[in-house]
Amino acid sequence: SGDEFGADFLFWQRVVDVGVDKYVVGAVSGGVDSSVAAALVHKAIGDRFRPFMVDTGLLRKDEAKIVKERLEKHIPGMKLKVLDASGDFYKELVRGPGLEGLHGLHAGVEEPEKKRKIIGRLFVEAFEKAVSEMGLPHERCLLLQGTLYPDVIESTSYKGPSSVIKTHHNVGGLPDRMKMEVIEPLRLLFKDEVRALGNELGLPVTSVMRHPFPGPGLGIRIIGEVDSHPCSEVTKESADTLSLADDIYIEELRKNGHYDKIGQAFAVLLPTVRSVGVMGDHRTYENVCVLRAVTTTDFMTADWYDMPHDVLARISNRIINEVKGINRVCYDVSSKPPATIEWE
Ligand code: XMP
Repeated sequence: SGDEFGADFLFWQRVVDVGVDKYVVGAVSGGVDSSVAAALVHKAIGDRFRPFMVDTGLLRKDEAKIVKERLEKHIPGMKLKVLDASGDFYKELVRGPGLEGLHGLHAGVEEPEKKRKIIGRLFVEAFEKAVSEMGLPHERCLLLQGTLYPDVIESTSYKGPSSVIKTHHNVGGLPDRMKMEVIEPLRLLFKDEVRALGNELGLPVTSVMRHPFPGPGLGIRIIGEVDSHPCSEVTKESADTLSLADDIYIEELRKNGHYDKIGQAFAVLLPTVRSVGVMGDHRTYENVCVLRAVTTTDFMTADWYDMPHDVLARISNRIINEVKGINRVCYDVSSKPPATIEWE
């Protein structure tokens, strides 16, 4: 009913007014943006909204399962289809035996923009596959995206020397062959406004206050340089290592009451850097993990979070002891600008 949204309802109704004979398919990541967009459209058109989630194999630990359970519980009547596309993602992002010749430039992809563009295309292919599997008429389908205002600005309007700061995977990345019209009901909103809308729509605090997670996922948190280090690919092994370290980090932040004071926290893996360490009587020569935590309101600027030393010590001990392949943990003390929140 219009009363739920007050005077703004007319605006929202126009934003999600898709026509009576149309379907909306929605790529849901489980973050606040796509969850709010999904809840909104589900409320507006019920089962003509068909949400799906692409499991890229580069998600946080157990993410697909957790998101499906949480959303289906809190958005009554909604069914989330999970599409496992991890094989396709690893095949193109990883240099493995026999893959070099097969994928040319795409094998061992390390350079950030190249990586993002490939991930963007793989998402589109996964979207197309999901829609085909649903058996809906393409010409009557709209594609829902949880794009926010900062995504739009950072991908299109900031004209620096290279004209674009980062190509966000979900903005402007859809090729012409993808005939579906896109609807982006959150395109004019900032994150805090989307959170307020999520509360209005009855989403749980675990969804609404969840730290953002970029579409390209762990793929842009496994850092490498272009064409220089043959050992630096995004592999299943490096993604598993990173997701474990990230999970420990986030668990400790929650346990110690820091998660909700932080705008975004995550771990980054530096697979091209190895450092010497000692474990018991042994010398180790393994990878470095960087912890990032920032405070921010709009994600356009951010300050590094002043984390208490005892919390850092506990997280570092746990990661080094529990995650095979990491023997050094560093804390990132850079603000945005000049650094960005993500490392790629
Ligand atoms: P940066 O690194 O640009 O990040 O300071 C700002 C916010 O945007 C998120 N981010 C992305 N989100 N697709 C997304 O959906 C992307 O390609 C992407 N790149 C960055 C980032 O996690 C942070 O919240």
